[in-house]
Formats: sequence, C-alpha cells, structure tokens
Amino acid sequence: MKTNITKIALVTGGSRGLGKDIALNLAARGNDVIITYNSRKDEALSVLAAIEQTGQRATALQLNTGDTKSFDTFYATLLTSLKNRFQSERFDFLINNAGHGITVPSLAATTEEQFDELVNVHLKGVFFLTQKALPYISDGGAIVNISSGLTRFTNPGSGAYASVKSGVETLTKYIAKELGQRYIRANVVAPGAIATDFNGSRLRETPQVQEHIKAITALPRIGQADDIGSVVAFLCSNDAKWINGQRIEVAGGMYL
Ligand SMILES: NC(=O)c1ccc[n+]([C@@H]2O[C@H](COP(=O)([O-])OP(=O)(O)OC[C@H]3O[C@@H](n4cnc5c(N)ncnc54)[C@H](OP(=O)(O)O)[C@@H]3O)[C@@H](O)[C@H]2O)c1
Repeated sequence: MKTNITKIALVTGGSRGLGKDIALNLAARGNDVIITYNSRKDEALSVLAAIEQTGQRATALQLNTGDTKSFDTFYATLLTSLKNRFQSERFDFLINNAGHGITVPSLAATTEEQFDELVNVHLKGVFFLTQKALPYISDGGAIVNISSGLTRFTNPGSGAYASVKSGVETLTKYIAKELGQRYIRANVVAPGAIATDFNGSRLRETPQVQEHIKAITALPRIGQADDIGSVVAFLCSNDAKWINGQRIEVAGGMYL
C-alpha cells in the first residue's frame, strides 16, 4: 500500500530533548516521522510543525511507555494514522527513546516505587513496545534503543537506572539476532550526560555538575541534544547497513 520510498520512523519521547533532536534529524534526512509524547502535547505539536517545515510528513500520538496495557490501543491508533496520514501499513524505524531519570544519592536511598517505574518505562515498556511493533515494522528496517553511558561507568545514585539500561542493551542483542532473518537491524546509542530536561534539568542548571562533566570528558564540554540525533539517523540509514547488535557510546569520551 506504500506509495513511495520515503521511510517512516516512530520515535518515542519525541516531544523534547534527545527524541526531538532524533525526530528532526530523521526528517532532515528525508524520513517521515511519528513522534510520541507522554504529557506535553503542546511541545509535541511544535516538533510536528518543525518536521513539516522540512517537507516531511509527521504526526504525534500520546503514549505512556510504562503502561504496557495501553500498547494494543496505541498500535491500533498508529495503524489508523499510518493508513490515513502516510498511506502505509508499516513503518521502518523504531526509536525507543522515551524515559526519565531519578535523583537519589545512592542505592540505599532508591525506593521500590522508583525502581519499578524505571523498569516499567525503560525495560518492560521497551520490550513489549518492540514485541508489538513486529507485525508493523518493515523488513529491512531498524531499531535503535537509547541506553546510557552509565552502563559502562558508574555514578552513585544511578544504580537502578543504569541496571535497567543494561537490560535494554542485552535485549538489543537479542532483537538483532532474532530479527536478522528479516534484515531488521538493532543497535544501542548510549549518550553521556546531555543538557536536556532530564532529571529535573540537573545538568543544564547546575554549574558544578557541568564543571565535573567537563573535567571527566576528553572533549571538554557537556553534551547537547544535537550531539545525538544525527547518530541515530545515521544508524537508521543505508550507510549503517552492516552495523548490527552494537552499542555506540556518544559521550565525547567520558571516563576514557
Ligand atoms: N539527558 C541525558 O543526560 C541522558 C543521558 C543518557 C541517556 N538518556 C536517555 O535518553 C532518553 C531521553 O532523555 P532526554 O534527556 O531527552 O529527557 P527529557 O528531555 O526529559 O525528555 C523525555 C522525553 O520522554 C518522554 N517520556 C518521559 N517519560 C515517559 C513515559 N513514561 N512514557 C512516554 N514518554 C515519556 C517525554 O514526554 P513528555 O514531553 O510528554 O513528558 C519526553 O518526550 C531517555 O531514555 C534517557 O534515559 C538521557
């Protein structure tokens, strides 16, 4: 049913931060984009407008990636949107990006509720959103899961978050292995510290944290959202057709 060769990407958490930059970079490379937002519809709509200015088609759908029970309804809505807006029954790229952090000083201070929420959004949500995408994602497509530099190095208080992200990295290898027969590739992008709204904008608004990050990074600055989107767009492109099952850290050389 697809009428042209334009590819379609689904980017979770595309309303702000890294997801917004990923969506804009995919659009700049000629892809149509479906973004999801959790609560900030207005910000999602402004991302849509920016994508449409590039000449690509776009739509925004609400999704809480921590609520797996909503996924069947989400994909039903997505399918309607694919048919009506994109004249397609498939999409090509899934970017599992949506997520939040927690601000606690230690393992001891991490609550069970925080832990469960991280698991639900960052691991269980990614697993089942990907599983339920399988009928809709085109053969030859690509999946990029956003992890974190914190799976390689440690930062007190990030134990629960980083453990869950490690789970996503293992999951990515299994996706790559199992979907290889369909020529669907799966890779991880692991950003370093990026100045977004993440974790209550802690990095962006705390000069001491910025100085610390600069001191431990070979390229002595903090990361920005636009350091990430182009890498994800590359991984979705044909230029990356032989990259599969890999973790690519995009962190300016943190803790080398
Ligand atoms: N920033 C960093 O330093 C950093 C480093 C490594 C990895 N990461 C990872 O990068 C990803 C994006 O982070 P960011 O820095 O762009 O954060 P951000 O600026 O806070 O943006 C978070 C995005 O995720 C969405 N979101 C949050 N919780 C959600 C949920 N339960 N269900 C669905 N969508 C949800 C938000 O939607 P609304 O706008 O509707 O709220 C928003 O679009 C996350 O997976 C994060 O773990 C970030």
